[in-house]
Amino acid sequence: MLVEGEAGVGNSRLIREASIELAGERQQVLTGFCHPLREPFPYGPVTDALRKADLTGRPAFPPTAGALAPLLPDPADRLPPPPEQPADASGRRFRLLQAVRSFLTGLGPTTLIVVDLHGVDEATRDLLLLLARDLPPRLSLVLTYRAEDLPPGGTVLGAAHRHPPGTAGAVIRLGPLVESEVREPASAALGPHATTALGAALYRRSEAARGRRRPPGSGSRSRWEGRRSSRG
Ligand SMILES: Nc1ncnc2c1ncn2[C@@H]1O[C@H](COP(=O)(O)OP(=O)(O)O)[C@@H](O)[C@H]1O
Ligand SMILES: [Mg+2]
Repeated sequence: MLVEGEAGVGNSRLIREASIELAGERQQVLTGFCHPLREPFPYGPVTDALRKADLTGRPAFPPTAGALAPLLPDPADRLPPPPEQPADASGRRFRLLQAVRSFLTGLGPTTLIVVDLHGVDEATRDLLLLLARDLPPRLSLVLTYRAEDLPPGGTVLGAAHRHPPGTAGAVIRLGPLVESEVREPASAALGPHATTALGAALYRRSEAARGRRRPPGSGSRSRWEGRRSSRG
């Protein structure tokens, strides 16, 4: 599931509300954040999310999950010992991918949310790309990003990303509120004092604030316009 929207449009809020709903559904919701650091921590957004996993009552993880132990100091004592590191970098990356898969599979029903993917480092993006191509069973992956901060012509997981067959998926594109949607919360708060003129003034102000955040002419889509596809 991809959630796309310009800065300030409500990406984080939507994810927060969705997490609250999902947490009531007997599954783990693990969230990691991309911070555009000059020297990002290796796989920081993913390890940030995985270290929050609740491991109580979980059966032992398979040996492949051990490669995560050095990156997850907190639950390390619940993980198998780390296997010997392959000498080459691609071998180490493969081990890590395997470890993330085994760990997430062992957790049971889980939603992994990675926020602000436009600021992701390359290593993490590749890891997420490979994970998305072959999702562990019972894992839902949610990625949020600002389209305007992607590299020109870029897609969020890179050109190699294709929606894997046999899985459900959607792109939610958050757009700015239209005038009637701005009026709604004003009416809820103020009742009859929320006149049409007040609604229009609030709308103009919100659009002006939006204009200050980004250049004009960047489109005005309805808030929930999205492409949905579902297979299997
Ligand atoms: N549906 C909503 N109703 C009321 N306030 C909202 C809603 N969505 C976002 N906001 C408010 O708008 C501001 C920006 O939202 P945020 O989710 O942080 O944007 P983003 O992550 O897209 O930059 C926040 O103050 C947030 O509380
Ligand atoms: Mg945000």
